[in-house]
Amino acid sequence: MSTVLRPGIRTFKPRRSRITTRQQRALDNARDTPGVLLTAGDLTVVWNLGNPVVLDIGFGSAEPVVHLARAFPEQVILAVDVHTPGIGDLVDRIVADQVRQVFVIEADALELLSHLPGKLTGVRSFFPDPWPKARHHKRRLVQPAVLEAMAHTVESGGFWQLATDWDEYAESMLAVFEADPNWSGGVIDRPTWRPVTHFERRAIREGRPITDMWFTRN
Ligand SMILES: C[S@@+](CC[C@H](N)C(=O)[O-])C[C@H]1O[C@@H](n2cnc3c(N)ncnc32)[C@H](O)[C@@H]1O
Repeated sequence: MSTVLRPGIRTFKPRRSRITTRQQRALDNARDTPGVLLTAGDLTVVWNLGNPVVLDIGFGSAEPVVHLARAFPEQVILAVDVHTPGIGDLVDRIVADQVRQVFVIEADALELLSHLPGKLTGVRSFFPDPWPKARHHKRRLVQPAVLEAMAHTVESGGFWQLATDWDEYAESMLAVFEADPNWSGGVIDRPTWRPVTHFERRAIREGRPITDMWFTRN
């Protein structure tokens, strides 16, 4: 149960895409061989490595995570999502490519926060669900209660990097961050190293502009 949002409020929606045989096999193997697919209870292995740890919330699919792991080899990436096919995809890829600094968690990221020791170097949320209808805004990832919780989880000087293809959500994000004294930052040029994600590709196809943002924990 999330301790961040009101009970029953989720930032994700059920997605019906089916899991492939390859993804399912990767998950079955990972469950039999601890080390890649972690649970909230066995995260000490991550902190014991002594590297900067970055939480990727809602990674969706493997390619962008692996791209970032290669771009920043000193970072450990904790990749969290609730979408089982995407989790299978990433587990399969990091085992096949022997990407050793990525750990995967199948969980609600907001429930995970209370299990983290407050030492995150950064957070990435690329194309979080925009929840465009006003009555659904309470399900958005970027809202005051989540910023406050994240401020306890990210170390001083750490970052939260975001991208969205939904202009009204971008404006809302900026307003929510502006109102929180724990964070400073705003819109940035698209970093050349940021991988194009699955949802971004769709936004580009459909003609929506992308906004990149970077905030620092004060
Ligand atoms: C719109 S998709 C974006 C996926 C990917 N980042 C991309 O850009 O293609 C949003 C993703 O966030 C995940 N998600 C939303 N809320 C989450 C939460 N509280 N914890 C973990 N994953 C979450 C969803 O399952 C989904 O995979």
